[in-house]
Amino acid sequence: MDSSPVKSTFGKAEYRVQDKLKTMNPLIQTRADYDLAYQKSVEDPEGFWAELASTFEWKKPWDSVLKWDFIKPDIQWFAGGKLNITENCLDRHLATRGDQTAILWEPNDPNAEVRRYTYRDLYHEVCKTANSLKALGVKKGDRICFYMPMVPELAIAVLACARIGAVHSVVFAGFSANALADRVKDAACKVVICSDYNDRGSKHIPVKEVVDQALAMDCDCVEHVLVLKHTGDPVQWTEGRDLWWHDQVDHQPDTCPAEVMDSEDMLFILYTSGSTGKPKGVVHTCGGYMVFTWYSFLNVFQYQDNDVYFCTADIGWITGHSYIVYGPLLAGATTLMFEGVPTYPTPSRFWDIVDKHKVNQFYTAPTAIRALMAMGEEWVTGHDLSSLKVLGSVGEPINEEAWKWYHDHVGRGTVPIVDTWWQTETGGILISPLPNVTPMKPCYATLPLPGIQPCLVNSSGEEIEGNDVEGLLCMKFPWPSILRTTYGDHERCRTTYFSMYKGMYFTGDGARRDADGLYRIIGRVDDVINVSGHRIGTAEVENAINCHPDVVESAVVGYPHPIKGQGIYAYVITQHEVKDEAAFRKEVLQVVTKEIGPIAKPDQIQLVTGLPKTRSGKIMRRILRKIASADTSGMGDTSTLLNPEIVDEIKAGALAPTKS
Ligand code: WTA
Repeated sequence: MDSSPVKSTFGKAEYRVQDKLKTMNPLIQTRADYDLAYQKSVEDPEGFWAELASTFEWKKPWDSVLKWDFIKPDIQWFAGGKLNITENCLDRHLATRGDQTAILWEPNDPNAEVRRYTYRDLYHEVCKTANSLKALGVKKGDRICFYMPMVPELAIAVLACARIGAVHSVVFAGFSANALADRVKDAACKVVICSDYNDRGSKHIPVKEVVDQALAMDCDCVEHVLVLKHTGDPVQWTEGRDLWWHDQVDHQPDTCPAEVMDSEDMLFILYTSGSTGKPKGVVHTCGGYMVFTWYSFLNVFQYQDNDVYFCTADIGWITGHSYIVYGPLLAGATTLMFEGVPTYPTPSRFWDIVDKHKVNQFYTAPTAIRALMAMGEEWVTGHDLSSLKVLGSVGEPINEEAWKWYHDHVGRGTVPIVDTWWQTETGGILISPLPNVTPMKPCYATLPLPGIQPCLVNSSGEEIEGNDVEGLLCMKFPWPSILRTTYGDHERCRTTYFSMYKGMYFTGDGARRDADGLYRIIGRVDDVINVSGHRIGTAEVENAINCHPDVVESAVVGYPHPIKGQGIYAYVITQHEVKDEAAFRKEVLQVVTKEIGPIAKPDQIQLVTGLPKTRSGKIMRRILRKIASADTSGMGDTSTLLNPEIVDEIKAGALAPTKS
């Protein structure tokens, strides 16, 4: 074979096309492939990722593959490289798969019409929408907020932003007007894109009304609201500000040149909860995110041409961004988008969809599995699920019982399960089995993907070597889709993720590594709780509860919950004695719904006269967690408490922990 150094037109010149062809099948199919890829990714990370990146179309090759500093932090992948992610999601596929379904949309109502967008349709719709945004004066770098149901137009408009270099900030449509207003203001969004209403299960949600309420809270940055007529029910209208999607988009030209983006230009912001303060806007950039979501999608789901892939997440969360929209479209996949909920009209809805569309890869959250498990396996049986090749789990630890049920009843005891561990901040899946390639073990996320270098550290930040050990999960080396900053507050990014353990990215999770070196995620070690796979900061819930005029102070902790994974337990001190406790609890729930949204409503509210505090005034949450979990083992050392007597009082008034 000719070994002359024919240069790749993509990527850095020293990676030659022949090398790429000889060595590079991005799809890992055997354990040997995995071992080789992993080894290469550690020994020569730049070469490894450059080879993978050269699969894509770059308008200009990058100047350097990786520059990084975990102290500042300053992380740059493929810096100087020019690209547009939508060209790689759409244009690149037109010649080879223009007529293949890109997005398959299953509506909330099972009798309503399924919608299919081929890659060509999607390309044209994205271009039309991009042109309409341009016509509204949206430019590269402007922020656009989304508050939308799971309809294809959400994915289309997200891609339209990326097409013209605008930054999307999708807010889950279950958040309240207050929460939406905070996010709109934090990113100074110029346009909000929403629908009139949202049909979710049997609920009819007035989406536009929530947007109106939010924008009434000093959101002066917003120039326009683009409203999709989805259900057609009447809505209030602010002339000049509000515009109908169909008026703006339908007549636009169906091609639109893609904005030239630097690899490190911002692609999107996604707000997520931390242990303190308000949610922070995690920032992801174009080039690295593209390479990593594609590579991880391909390998974790072993996607093959003509497969139908179904992820049940909402695009309001990172899972929807990376594994409904970007990863699958970059890989030229058919991605199924579902508008509804798993229990509507019956608890067999997921299996109806799998059967109806012959789904090959199915990706959901443990909370959904547990909820469906509790309703009985009769809802699963009778469906033809033989198309399934891979089952996925994400968002929280999956307990052994749920894992087994998923495996036995959905996977017929044979379909591999990928327990995928990752975070909003990681952009993509970092630790997961690769189906039929690497081992799987119930409750274990198992092994890092190539390019990922996890480690466990003790509380002093020293690495814990060897196997059969437990510690705090950190990453020693950057991967292409690691967060770059938190929007408008780089210092917060530094202190949250990079200052705890020097030279490492700290995940906030505790993990164990078993005798075989497989990772099991134990859960958050900070004040973040994971309720039905949704990340909620205890401080946020406390701040919301404290908005009730009678509340003096509150403390919120998580406790084990059979369906939700964790439930929210709130201890509340009131100003006056509460006469009608039931009415008071209802008011607290209302206040939390108003401040954050229904997902943050406490499951248990216990009225207390004090909270266990140290002499420096810090609440001893360890004790509160124990009481909330009905953990009867001792309370440990309470000698540093200012008010040790309060512990018995709280214990005596504790509520049964397992109610839903
Ligand atoms: C948790 C979701 C155990 C973890 C993609 C992490 C998991 C947080 C798993 C991130 C898993 C996610 N096993 N725990 N497979 N996947 N988590 O940002 O605590 O919404 O830190 O991203 O969810 O939640 P986030």
